[in-house]
Parts: sequence; structure tokens; C-alpha cells
Amino acid sequence: MSEIRGKIYGVAGPTVIAKGMDGVKMNTVCLVGNSGLLAEVIRIREGLATLQVYEDTGGLTVGQEVVSHAKPLTVLLGPGLLSNIYDGTQRPLYKIKEAGGDFIGKGLKVSPMDTAKPWPFIPLKKQGDAVTEGDVLGTIQETECISHKVMVPPGVSGTVKTIASAEVSGRAPVCTFEDGSFVNLYQDWPVRKPRPFIAKLPPSMPFITGQRMFDTLLPVVLGGTAIVPGGFGTGKTVVEQTIAKYGRADIVIYIGCGERGNEMTEILTDFPALKDPVTGLPLSHRTVIIVNTSNMPVAAREASLFTGVTIAEYYRDMGYNVALLADSISRWAEALREISSRLEEMPGEEGFPPHLATHLGSFYERSGKVRCLGPEDRYGSITVISAVSPPGGDFSEPVTQASLRFAGALWALDPDLAYRRHFPAVNWQASFSLYYNELKDWFTKEVSPEMQGLRQRLLKLLQRENELKEIIQIIGVEALQESDRLMLEAAIIARDTFLKQSVFNEADAFNSYEKQFWMMKVIFAFADNAEAALKRGVYIEKIIDTPLRADVMAMQDIPSIGFAQKAEALIEAIEREFGAAE
Ligand SMILES: Nc1ncnc2c1ncn2[C@@H]1O[C@H](COP(=O)(O)OP(=O)(O)OP(=O)(O)O)[C@@H](O)[C@H]1O
Ligand SMILES: [Mg+2]
Repeated sequence: MSEIRGKIYGVAGPTVIAKGMDGVKMNTVCLVGNSGLLAEVIRIREGLATLQVYEDTGGLTVGQEVVSHAKPLTVLLGPGLLSNIYDGTQRPLYKIKEAGGDFIGKGLKVSPMDTAKPWPFIPLKKQGDAVTEGDVLGTIQETECISHKVMVPPGVSGTVKTIASAEVSGRAPVCTFEDGSFVNLYQDWPVRKPRPFIAKLPPSMPFITGQRMFDTLLPVVLGGTAIVPGGFGTGKTVVEQTIAKYGRADIVIYIGCGERGNEMTEILTDFPALKDPVTGLPLSHRTVIIVNTSNMPVAAREASLFTGVTIAEYYRDMGYNVALLADSISRWAEALREISSRLEEMPGEEGFPPHLATHLGSFYERSGKVRCLGPEDRYGSITVISAVSPPGGDFSEPVTQASLRFAGALWALDPDLAYRRHFPAVNWQASFSLYYNELKDWFTKEVSPEMQGLRQRLLKLLQRENELKEIIQIIGVEALQESDRLMLEAAIIARDTFLKQSVFNEADAFNSYEKQFWMMKVIFAFADNAEAALKRGVYIEKIIDTPLRADVMAMQDIPSIGFAQKAEALIEAIEREFGAAE
């Protein structure tokens, strides 16, 4: 490949201007300066190329060399990605830590995976088979829970001449073709180029988070996008990490974008110790983490979303459901803003570049459920759930607004709820899910024909509670009708049992849909029987103070398994109690 050599003409923060780079193309990678720092061409104008540098630019001076090999920024895909923790340009932080401590040495080149590692390979094709792009040549048990499909890369096809039948390693062929070409375990893929698929499919199934607020009230689909905006300390990181742990995804890609330095150390030390609640295996067996702390170069932070989504696509192509969690998109947008200001681009709102939404769109549009490349029926998905940190919690700011354009669900976090320690602090009135309509059939078929009705009733109850609270402000609680007072009590029960969900309560941290359904059944059995008792003349105090109320409030402490039977027993007890109270 042709090499283009130029010289540094100027350095401005994370960007470098190079001259003498005639023929260099946009978005190609360059090595800059004496240490060969990784950089990408982001503008070409009047014979000068502007590069964003993925490493600290300190020490670069005018006149140092810039070399381009005319290649785009790529990530290395292949077995061994799982369990890794990378920076935004896929440098493995564990290995760097082993090699030289917490700080990343300049120009340090470390392979993203141990490509020399031998992997036992189970072939699925044989000599003489005609294969095309996306075909699965064989499998490798990448971790205890994930079988890695070795696929024919996009654009490649041929007739199998030889295929490995035992261990494979390095860049040695896994499969050779009659025409002399071959496929090995690893491939470089440009981060800014979406990996191809046969077709995008409409959503049909929920992405199960195990969180009642999301699954029942504000569902996101497999292949959908949800954004979680919230002011300082409202619980964004807890939402992302809870979903990483309990969300029903095969693979989790976690992008920690520009969070504090000590949080990265926590991820490096704490994450490997976390257990997968489903399999009991280390959670890292199905996770790739990408971290960029605020003390790392901003350009690497900009790249991290694209590095993350490319790895997500690779596992999607194997037929997995991938959750891509980003915390937070705002830090990413700030990196974009900083780079843009160095380019002296005309700033848009609040200094963000006018192309903020387009750029963000090129990330979000890579979510979705697809039919994967290849002759067999294989389906995979990428569900994106990203936190947004609007300054001052003001959702009208540009990053929240730009993200909203691409979000199918909005989980709006509310500082008042967080302050009252109502977690997850989701303001259900300010939030929405555009996916609910698509999921109605699924709810009816897979959960219960009553599910939709109960959900509607719950929303109505919460709505009515708000109206009643306004009335109380004016006339006082004493003036309320007794039936309305009872409704307020039911709303309190619904809020404190159903909407609140603590991640620190092991029995409650993950809820099956069945548990979510039966919790609503109990709440409304209580409300209906209480109302009937009131109508029969039972004193309201007696109803409100029933000892059964404590049992209803303690539903959270019952694990999902076996919940339905306990709920049925509780409903019977409620019916007996109020029936006998006459
Ligand atoms: N679901 C939850 N259950 C219990 N506690 C929670 C929950 N969510 C948040 N919290 C509490 O709120 C605190 C702040 O949460 P978190 O760090 O996720 O906020 P954040 O929005 O990410 O903050 P920042 O703006 O600093 O990034 C947590 O340390 C925890 O004590
Ligand atoms: Mg946070």
C-alpha cells in the first residue's frame, strides 16, 4: 500500500495539522511524530491535512514526520475479544497495566488480543463445500459461555480446499480455498463502516432488563435504542451497570466514556470479580469493556463509540443479542466539541458542532435486529442504551435533544425522585417507549392476556394519584372522598412496591416478567377488595391498617422463582380478609 510522508505544520490540543500529505484521504490513519502516535485524518483543506490524535500530543513539534499508510482506523476482530478492557482505540488496558503501570506509554503498540493463543477449532465445513460471506466455517469455545463462530468475512467466497480440524492460532489459515486464498481467525474492520447484513427486521421481542419500570412500563425491544438522561447523581451509571449485569443479552459491550479516572480503576479491579447472575460464571466471560477516562485524549473518546459498536456488530453477525451500553454520550459529545473547536468550525448550539446529530446518528443507526449474512437463517441484534448527562439536568440541551431523535425509548431520570431515594429515579410521566405497540402481542402471548390491561390500569392509577395530589393541595386530604383516599393508598403501594426496585436487594434485582405480572395482580386485588369492603361499610382505617398490607409491601423480597404461587396465596388471603371483615 502506498505510503504518504509529510511533516507537522502545527499542533493544537488534540489535533495536528500536517503539510506535504498530498493524496491522503479522509478518515485514514497516520502515525505522527517521533513516537508514531496514532491519528486519523479529519479534514483536508488547502493542501493541509488536519488529524485528530488518539494519544497525548505533548512533545510533538513542528517539522516532525507524519506517515500515512492509506488505511482507515480499524479494530481487530477475532476470538479473545471477550473479557478484555480496551481504550477507545482498542488498546488492552490489562496488558498495558502489566507492561508499565496505569499510564499508557506514548506510541505503545500492543496487540488487542493474544493472537498467538491456540484455539481448539471445530469445523462445520469440509473439503469441496462452496461457502460465501457470513457462512460459519466452524466454532471456537471462546469462553465457557460463548461459542465463537468463525465466519467467512464479508465479500469473500470460495470452495473449501482444506479446513483446520484441531487447534488454530495466529494468522495461520483456518480454511484455504481452491483459488489459493484463505481465511484466518482475525480480521481488521474499519470502525466507521457498518458491517453488512442481509436485512434489518422490525422489532418483535423485548430486551428484558429485569427492571419493572423498564420491562413493564417503558420497554425497549431487542435491537432498539433507549436513552437515559439525568442530572448529576440521579442513577445513570447504576442503570447502565444493572443492565450490564441482569439484562438478557448474550454479549455486553460497555463503553465508559470520559468518566472519572478512579472509576476506571474500579472497573479494572472490580469488574473481573462480578458474577453472572444467570450462569454463575464471571460476568466478564460475555463482556467487552471500553473505557476512556477524562484524563485520556479526547480523540480516543470520540473513537470509542465506533470501536464499541464495531465489536458489537461482529458478535451480532454470529447471531447473538448484544447490549451496547454507553455511559455517557455527553462526555463523547464534549470530545467532539473540543476537536471541532480546534478546527475552528462554525459552532452550533452551546458550542457543539452542527454535525453533532448526524455524527451521533451514524452511531445509533448501527443498532437493530438483523438477518445476518450467510445462507442459514441467523438473526442477531444490537440494543443500544446510552446515558446522557445534561448540564444542570436540563433536557433541552443539544446532546439530549440530538439523542432523542434516535431513541425509541426515553427513561428520564428525575433529581427529586433520586433525592427521595426512589430508585430507579425514572420520571414515568416524562418518559416514553415507542416500542410498546409493537410488543402488545408478545405481552399477550408470552406473559398473559391480562398483562396489557394491568399495565394500563397501573398507568391510570399513577395518573389519578397526581390529579388527587393537586386537589389535596387545594382542599386538603380530609375533604377527599373515602374511595379516593383508598385510591391514594393503592398508588402508594404501587409506587413503593412496583416502581421502586433496589439493585442491592438480591431477590429483587432481577424480576422475570412473570413476577412483574403477578405483582400487579396482587396490587389490584388489594385495591379491588379494599374498595368492595369500603362499599360494604367497613371503616377505611380498618382497611388501610390491615396486617396484610405489610405482606403486600414485602413482595419485593420474594424471588422471581416461585413468585406466582406465593402471589396467588396472597390474593386468596386478601379476599378472605376483606370478605370476612363485614
Ligand atoms: N437502582 C438503584 N438502587 C439503589 N440505589 C441507587 C439506584 N440507582 C442509584 N442509586 C444510588 O444513587 C447513587 C448515584 O448513582 P449513579 O452514580 O448511578 O448516578 P449518576 O447519574 O451516574 O451520577 P453522575 O452524574 O455522577 O455520573 C448511587 O451511588 C446509589 O447510591
Ligand atoms: Mg455516572
